[in-house]
Amino acid sequence: MEKKIDVELNAVRKTFGSNVVVDNFDLKIEQGECISFLGPSGCGKTTTLNMIAGFLDPDGGEISIKGKRMNGVPSNKRDLGMVFQTYSLFPHMTVAENVAYGLKLRKMPKAEIKDKVRKILELVKLPHVADRYPKQLSGGQRQRIAIARALVIEPSLLLLDEPLSNLDAKLREELRDELKRLHKETGVTTIFVTHDQEEALYLSDRIVVLDHGKVEQIGTPWDIYNRPASEFVHTFIGKSNRLPGTVRGSANGGMAVQTDAGFVLEAFADGRTFTTGESVVAYVRPEKIRLTESGALADTVRAAGTIRQLSFLGSFVECEVEVGSALVTVRMQMQDGLADYTAGRQVGLTWNPKDVFVFPRKEQ
Ligand SMILES: Nc1ncnc2c1ncn2[C@@H]1O[C@H](COP(=O)(O)OP(=O)(O)O)[C@@H](O)[C@H]1O
Ligand SMILES: [Mg+2]
Repeated sequence: MEKKIDVELNAVRKTFGSNVVVDNFDLKIEQGECISFLGPSGCGKTTTLNMIAGFLDPDGGEISIKGKRMNGVPSNKRDLGMVFQTYSLFPHMTVAENVAYGLKLRKMPKAEIKDKVRKILELVKLPHVADRYPKQLSGGQRQRIAIARALVIEPSLLLLDEPLSNLDAKLREELRDELKRLHKETGVTTIFVTHDQEEALYLSDRIVVLDHGKVEQIGTPWDIYNRPASEFVHTFIGKSNRLPGTVRGSANGGMAVQTDAGFVLEAFADGRTFTTGESVVAYVRPEKIRLTESGALADTVRAAGTIRQLSFLGSFVECEVEVGSALVTVRMQMQDGLADYTAGRQVGLTWNPKDVFVFPRKEQ
């Protein structure tokens, strides 16, 4: 059976003066999906969310929620739950009163409100703070209550704008797990705005990668990571070695890139067409490169280099290897017999050509 579409954006556009902030945004969100809007600060994430929420009107295009056209429909008629980066609880109300607020507006009977508030506080694992005031809670607890308040009305759509950004690293991770669990338990269609690629990869069914108001790619976390549609997507998600070069020709269904650094990289074109002589940039992620004994396994060694620096980072080690005139970062798990690798040592580097991404080189 085909999934129901809960939210639809059709050529949505927003300008502030001459600044095009959201351009031609198309998206269909299925019922129950968790979708992230991911991109650097200023790329138009909040503006898009605010148009879906009804706080801003689009200059062009259409937004529908549950099949109904929303242009001109006020925010409070859109059946939304919202959580923002800064805690938006009412300071003069207790936790229970904060959570009950939306239900009171809906004129729900008192006994039913009490029951719903109790259940939702249990769901966010904070039943014991019902009578406290927001200032008596930690930052993480306040965000959990903000989430409870958004969920208690059983909205048809949950909108989260960087809800974890104000928390320290450990709490951020805890609340990230919590959001994942809550999404699974409630099944509410969710849009999650973040500039943090790890959060987006971890939480989302699909990610919309945005740059300067334009959709760069829409895909599953796996797609975004392994089949990036553009250089921007590849470099925004995680660390990667950038190796400018020239296409030397095709071989074995892939191609060879002569890097400016002086060695040859084999790569697969992943459906893109390149011509011999074309200027390109090739990328390989640090965790996709393996170090080998230099000279051994001659047919699999793809480049040779010298270790310049090793950095211990707990569960892995990062290694800077000089290859030609490039410094290539290699990331190794700790079990790799690392004691053998020391600065100054000659090594071979191997990679799977499928892990080498090639994009046209932009004019500088
Ligand atoms: N009310 C406004 N008036 C003028 N420019 C705005 C307004 N709101 C946002 N912008 C601009 O629109 C762009 C996108 O902003 P925003 O959607 O907040 O980005 P993000 O949430 O991705 O960080 C930015 O360049 C920002 O300065
Ligand atoms: Mg924002």
